[in-house]
Amino acid sequence: MADTMQGIKRSAYCAEIDEIYAGQTVTVTGWVQRKREMGPFTFILLRDRSGIVQAVVNESSPAEIIAKTKEIKSEYVLAITGKVNLRTEKNINPKMKTGKIEIAVEELRILNESETPPFQIEDSINVSTELRLKYRYLDLRRPVVSNNIIMRHKTAQAVRRFLTDEGFIEIETPMLTKSTPEGARDYLVPSRVHPGSFYALPQSPQLFKQLLMVSGFDKYFQIAKCFRDEDLRADRQPEFTQIDMELSFVEPEDVMSVNERLIKYVFKEIKGIDLETPFLRMPWQEAMDRFGSDKPDIRFGMELQDITDLVKDTDFVVFKSAIEAGGSVRCIVAEGCGSFPRKKIDSLVDVAKTYGAKGLAWINVLDGGFKSTISKFFDDEKLSEIAEKTGAKAGDLILICADKNKVVWDALGAVRLEVANRLELLKDDDYKFLWVTEFPLFEFSEEENRYVAMHHPFTAPMDEDIEKLDTEPQNARAKAYDMVLNGCELGGGSIRIHSREIQNKMFKCLGFSAEDAQERFGFLLDAFKYGAPPHGGLAFGLDRMIMLMTGAESIRDVIAFPKVKDASCLLTDAPNIVEDKQLEELGLKIDIKNNEEELS
Ligand code: AMO
Ligand code: AMP
Repeated sequence: MADTMQGIKRSAYCAEIDEIYAGQTVTVTGWVQRKREMGPFTFILLRDRSGIVQAVVNESSPAEIIAKTKEIKSEYVLAITGKVNLRTEKNINPKMKTGKIEIAVEELRILNESETPPFQIEDSINVSTELRLKYRYLDLRRPVVSNNIIMRHKTAQAVRRFLTDEGFIEIETPMLTKSTPEGARDYLVPSRVHPGSFYALPQSPQLFKQLLMVSGFDKYFQIAKCFRDEDLRADRQPEFTQIDMELSFVEPEDVMSVNERLIKYVFKEIKGIDLETPFLRMPWQEAMDRFGSDKPDIRFGMELQDITDLVKDTDFVVFKSAIEAGGSVRCIVAEGCGSFPRKKIDSLVDVAKTYGAKGLAWINVLDGGFKSTISKFFDDEKLSEIAEKTGAKAGDLILICADKNKVVWDALGAVRLEVANRLELLKDDDYKFLWVTEFPLFEFSEEENRYVAMHHPFTAPMDEDIEKLDTEPQNARAKAYDMVLNGCELGGGSIRIHSREIQNKMFKCLGFSAEDAQERFGFLLDAFKYGAPPHGGLAFGLDRMIMLMTGAESIRDVIAFPKVKDASCLLTDAPNIVEDKQLEELGLKIDIKNNEEELS
């Protein structure tokens, strides 16, 4: 029968015990990392969330302890009471935090047994993600994972401290609500009381935080769960957490400045890193032109260069037609990559193609000549001019793309990152922050064949671009800003429209009728009739922040119970089929056949 904790209390966490404890009697609790028998000694490595400590039983220990020690296996749960002894010089283990001491066991309780776990509870294990997630509670015993979760806790606390000190008020907003305008698909929850009606889980607290500004809370924040039914990637989960905030009586600089200070505080508190502020600010247009991305990784150069002018008089139909259609011809210079074998270059072409490029031309700059896919169309003199203009030297590889600007940016932006990865230019602990500002207010959606809001329909235009709403909305810029870290969008926000007149213009540009707008966001528009202050805000992805701070490869590694690519939970098997009775109560009928037809 399992022992209990009756009459004893833990006196310290395993890894807290150091030389200062020498001579004291301590009680530690935890799981058996390993048991080793060496001659007369049995060593037990005991682990809790703090780390590992070694306990030792020897031949002269009481018979009861020796007998119990024999039973112990990996992952058994123990309470050990004993005296802390300094290890002799030759037995010190410099790799262990507690390597200078060990505990001589005086009382041993087996609080529970354990079956052999499906994988070793160690940092470096080679098992599938599926197995780890099915047994996530065991995976979370591994220090690499549990330390991420603990850092997440510390970060959330630091955020709360900082924002509270800055005068922000933490307010919870509803989870059962109406659709919010963040552009992804909603998760819906059927209502029992109102059969046929649905709540939506919030994609963000956006509309509520704006209402809180109308209420006069002035500075709001929340560490909020958000839900988006979108295709998952390494940095996306269907439910994730935002550090969400909104402020009244502000302009973009105010929001950016408080958030820079927040990030500076968090990095100092949690990682001991002094970040330099203010962060670089880069207008969206510049980010696209230089890096082919609205979330540029500025840890390295290899910037995009526009060579449209140099090649505009060509007969090469690919370039010619791209330019005639209003597109451009741009390139990057991959330094020292002239030696890439053909296969490697071809795989870069494939990267470009996945971003919609029809191809990627290249020029290998040789010592006194060129090797190129476009030498049929450009003589050495022209190639030399291109090399000179782009600063390419012998040994470099120029990669060129011609298409609509958006395709050229996306394709070359992706190829640039791929080359940097291959050249191992990216260091996890090199934190390069910037703000991308002056986003376009609208972007054209090929899918919907109309302009859609790039951020959301409440984002304010820049003051100097307000007139463009009537004349050339596609060129209007927004008071929107994203904080970018190492090529990842850490957070984003905007100043909102608080004027009814501009809001109506905005809806008109988006093709919403007054009725559509009233139907979807009527409660917000109504609230705005009662004195909405100028306001704006921002939301960070907490999961992404922790992923970048820990160097984890996926946000899965910083979420206690994450979902996998198809949005299922391998631990609980959610989502699952529910009982007919539950469906009946909700007035729902499942018709999977129809559903499949619709999807195909
Ligand atoms: P946005 O949609 O840009 O803005 O989201 C803010 C931040 O949330 C994170 N994020 C995600 N993280 C993990 N998984 C996802 N599926 C996911 N989607 C977004 C990103 C992103 O930068 N209401 C606005 C904010 C505002 O304007 O104040 C909003 O939600 O890090
Ligand atoms: P082709 O005449 O189609 O064989 O193309 C000649 C070269 O131009 C090949 O190396 C192609 O990969 C390249 N190419 C094709 N489309 C593009 C494009 N959109 N931008 C740049 N290069 C391209």
